Amino acid sequence: MKTSEIRRRFLDFFEKNNHRIVPAGSLVPGNDPTLLFTNAGMNQFKDVFLGSDKRDYNRATTAQRCVRAGGKHNDLENVGYTARHHTFFEMLGNFSFGDYFKEEAIQFAWTFLTEELGLPKERLWVTVYKDDDEAADIWINKMGVPADRLSRLGDKDNFWMMGDTGPCGPCSEIFYDHGEDVPGGPPGSPDDDLDRYIEIWNLVFMQFDTLADGSRVPLPKPSVDTGMGLERLAAILQGVHSNYEIDLFQSLIKAAMRVTGCQDIENRSLRVIADHIRSAAFLIVDGVIPSNEGRGYVLRRIIRRAIRHGYKLGCEELFLNKLVADLVAEMGEAYPELAEQADHAVKVLILEEEQFARTLANGMAILEAGIQSLEGKVVPGELVFKLYDTYGFPADLTADVAREKSLEIDQQGFDEAMQAQRERAKAGNKFKLDRDVDLELDGATEFLGYDSLVAQGSVRKLLKDGESVDSIHAGDEAVVILDRTPFYAESGGQAGDTGTLTADSVELEVVDCTKQQGHFLHRVKVSAGSVSVGMSLNASVKREERLNTARHHSSTHLMHAALRKILGTHVQQRGSLVSYDKLRFDFSHLEPVTDSELEAIEVLVNKHIQANTPVTTELMDIESAQASGAMALFGEKYDDQVRVLTMGTDGFSKELCGGTHVSQTGDIGVFRIQSETGVAAGVRRIEAVVGPYAIADIHRQDNLIGHLQATLKCSKEQVEDRVMQSIGQIKELEKEIQNLKAKLASSAANDLTSAVIDVNGVNVLAARLDGVDAGSLRSTMDQMKDKLKSAVIVLAAVNGDKVQLAVGVTKDQIGVVKAGDLVKEVGAVMGAKGGGKPDLAMAGGGDLAELPKALDVAVELIKQKLA
Ligand code: ALA
Repeated sequence: MKTSEIRRRFLDFFEKNNHRIVPAGSLVPGNDPTLLFTNAGMNQFKDVFLGSDKRDYNRATTAQRCVRAGGKHNDLENVGYTARHHTFFEMLGNFSFGDYFKEEAIQFAWTFLTEELGLPKERLWVTVYKDDDEAADIWINKMGVPADRLSRLGDKDNFWMMGDTGPCGPCSEIFYDHGEDVPGGPPGSPDDDLDRYIEIWNLVFMQFDTLADGSRVPLPKPSVDTGMGLERLAAILQGVHSNYEIDLFQSLIKAAMRVTGCQDIENRSLRVIADHIRSAAFLIVDGVIPSNEGRGYVLRRIIRRAIRHGYKLGCEELFLNKLVADLVAEMGEAYPELAEQADHAVKVLILEEEQFARTLANGMAILEAGIQSLEGKVVPGELVFKLYDTYGFPADLTADVAREKSLEIDQQGFDEAMQAQRERAKAGNKFKLDRDVDLELDGATEFLGYDSLVAQGSVRKLLKDGESVDSIHAGDEAVVILDRTPFYAESGGQAGDTGTLTADSVELEVVDCTKQQGHFLHRVKVSAGSVSVGMSLNASVKREERLNTARHHSSTHLMHAALRKILGTHVQQRGSLVSYDKLRFDFSHLEPVTDSELEAIEVLVNKHIQANTPVTTELMDIESAQASGAMALFGEKYDDQVRVLTMGTDGFSKELCGGTHVSQTGDIGVFRIQSETGVAAGVRRIEAVVGPYAIADIHRQDNLIGHLQATLKCSKEQVEDRVMQSIGQIKELEKEIQNLKAKLASSAANDLTSAVIDVNGVNVLAARLDGVDAGSLRSTMDQMKDKLKSAVIVLAAVNGDKVQLAVGVTKDQIGVVKAGDLVKEVGAVMGAKGGGKPDLAMAGGGDLAELPKALDVAVELIKQKLA
């Protein structure tokens, strides 16, 4: 039975039993920072189990793509070496949210396996949690499983938890016995980790929620979460032992043979490539872009490992991207998003392949040399680091190569070298002084700046040169920490506020404000008076600057939403900077944004500004915020209580954000994009200005056009035409100049004829040409040769103080005079160097003052040679 049919039959079976077929969740878990990648079917239903999310169904079934690479569940290095490890696999699952429980769950699984698929009962073995008598009773007495084919196991095997926190419960697993000729024992026996008994299905009886402190509270309703490994089941139904022998993998392996040129279907590298194209393509489809951190780095490691295995097979072309089409053929029907975004995946892979191709061969050479000269079995951490840093070899890729040669890498040495590099980078950070200071302060600064720009606060701490001090005085530069403040501290890309801190005869200028451990650090210059700890200060934020910062911040949100609308939902924030005078926004997108797209984005943002709708802020817990569909930054840590900012017509933009914003979109005024550039592979940057800065930008453009008008003496509307006309004219003139030059050269040639002398029947000419460039020198030489038929010619083109010598010899005289020799001899007189062929040679440089002498010598030399 084909893999696609098993997937279909599973979903149909549960649909028939009143389950809703729900599309797979993204591999990037929606706003769940506890999880690197989706690793089980239940991930997308976590909140439904917890009761904080309600759906209009209480039975569901899915085919869920999962990735186990990086993070806690990391199978990356085992891929290719075992029969069953994958970075990417599919989990088939059925779920009950407070509906059926143990008995139906077991009944469904048993019926599906033994009746629907017809697996022989005597090949199956089950396990239950050690004290789950209820489940044991159902298996033995209701399903008829013999008691000696059931094991009771403990927490490690039969209690399933999504992670350190979240839904969990006892579980019951179903195993398949691959037969006596495969080594291994049944679950619970000492050699149960061998290959004979393979777990195929896990039925979790969800009952508890594990909290952060480790305690467990019951779920609102007992529920069911199951997961069956599709590839494992396919192996059984197709009568093969290794997952890589199933139809789906065989197709991908054959495709890998085609694109790499490898002929040996058993080659392990093909398995690695077949596995990795699945995780790489799906991760890209789910919005991940190769990068040097977080999820992007896991993707980069997977892609680079695949490329390295292609290289190992001797493939020197880009190949991985070509497999996307084959993957779509295998899986596109089950996962339409893959088919839809295939082009995007190809582009991302090409970029990464090209980038890595530039360093792969060099890196491999360095690694092989390092391995050759190795004493012992461990590749030193420094070499692993050098390969990482200079050649883009992730450490596990180097480990992969090492493993093939039965070596290991010095992971600790590598980590140390990485750490040392981080320290160096940190040392270059301008805030180092403050970051390294232990503030030794309890509590946190209370931030009042969402509602007011002035407030009174008392001084809790003063720092000067990174040291805690009791007081600061006029002329000092220092850091002031208050108990409460209206100053926004730099975060989330928004710059810190500026303003003043004052008291009677005391004035401090606040030049920046940053945050550390919840305390707001006001960076000040003391203009007058002294300040000591405990003193009360009037804090006042520069109103106009703050308003402009808010304008830029709110328009960043609108632009983010507009980018996703115009360019597509693959656009994700990669970096953001908001200050009073501009905004800068980095985002994932593969090509330059076209002028018409930029215009559409600008128009759309301005439309929402003009609609002048209120900007609303709601405080919610993180779960509700996620449920409301607010955009969050993947991997960002949020507090339990978050601010959700909504703006634009019909909730156009909804983001989690701690920044300060305008109250109506109309406050932004006008939005203008200034530039669009690329900052890294797959990452673009837009810079834009709003409000008064946009107006100033418009004025600048106007002035520029005004100047052009004055210079071109025309109206605004005519400027473009005039400039185009001028460019056309310049081209015409250049052409004319070329013609004139050619004419000049030929008339010069006529003049030159009069200087020709006859030496034994050969025409000899040595002449100086002024204001002639190299091109004309050659063409004059050609003309003279044509004209004089049998001749030896020396021409010196003089341009400013530069001389270029050319010696030409007509064919009939080549045996007598060699141009290359002559140019050297003549050049030597004036210090010019050169050479060439027997019929034409050139020399340059040399002293102009010596030219007359050189030309005289030339004539003498020719006479001697022709004598
Ligand atoms: N969530 C369960 C698992 O991953 C079914 O095994």
